[in-house]
Amino acid sequence: MDHHPLEGMWYVPLVSAMVECIIEDDEIIVLQKQLGEWDNLNHLIVCKKTSEAAIIDPFSGKYWLDICQKNNWKLNQVWLSHTHWDHSKGVSELEDCEIWAHELEFERGWNGPSSHIWQHPPNTSASHKLGNLTFAIHCTPGHSPGHTTIIGHGFVNSGDCLFLGRCGRTDLFGGDIDSQRRSLIYLKEKLQEIPKNWLVLPGHQYPLQDGTNPTFLSVEQLLVGNEALMAVDDDDKWNGLNFLAFDDNMAEKARRQRAMNQ
Ligand SMILES: [Fe+2]
Repeated sequence: MDHHPLEGMWYVPLVSAMVECIIEDDEIIVLQKQLGEWDNLNHLIVCKKTSEAAIIDPFSGKYWLDICQKNNWKLNQVWLSHTHWDHSKGVSELEDCEIWAHELEFERGWNGPSSHIWQHPPNTSASHKLGNLTFAIHCTPGHSPGHTTIIGHGFVNSGDCLFLGRCGRTDLFGGDIDSQRRSLIYLKEKLQEIPKNWLVLPGHQYPLQDGTNPTFLSVEQLLVGNEALMAVDDDDKWNGLNFLAFDDNMAEKARRQRAMNQ
């Protein structure tokens, strides 16, 4: 065992040669792996007591089935933070699992497969079990209509709602800037209530303003350095953020989709 750089956390360096174990205690293992050409961070959650596992936002199903098979874990749940293709590409290889997504994702045209649906309103949470572990699934729309942020047992899986240094864009089809601001205000409050050494696990790795490029930060580190969270309570700062919308092909595609749906 090596000591984790963040106080109070320990990790086992390698479960396989290819994937990093970022949290391990008596109850839980959390693995992190970057997969795919869009550098998506995938996270596998394992209940140590029951060996049941859930994969969040699988880019590849086969990759995680192999890891689970090698470690005698039962991969029986998929949790989608949201349904953009780079977060849901692997589900087609995991149709024997329960596939969970929020029903508001249907508003952006998601048509599955998702065998199980979260239905709670925006900026509320629902309790969700994996083996003996219980997590809070927070509905945090803005980047997509049914985005979820998963909190419990030492981590916050923030998907594309909240990156480490900033937040996700709001100009894709189904995105909404005002919903994003409300979700970030809601989430900031939740982050202030949980232990400061829990890890925030985003959906993508982007460099921070200080030039570092971590794949996770503690809640404490995130709260003092995240540009979006620091701007949510101030209209001028919020309106000055330059990463909520972009002038690119994806924004153009979203404009066309909105026009078609009017
Ligand atoms: Fe996304």
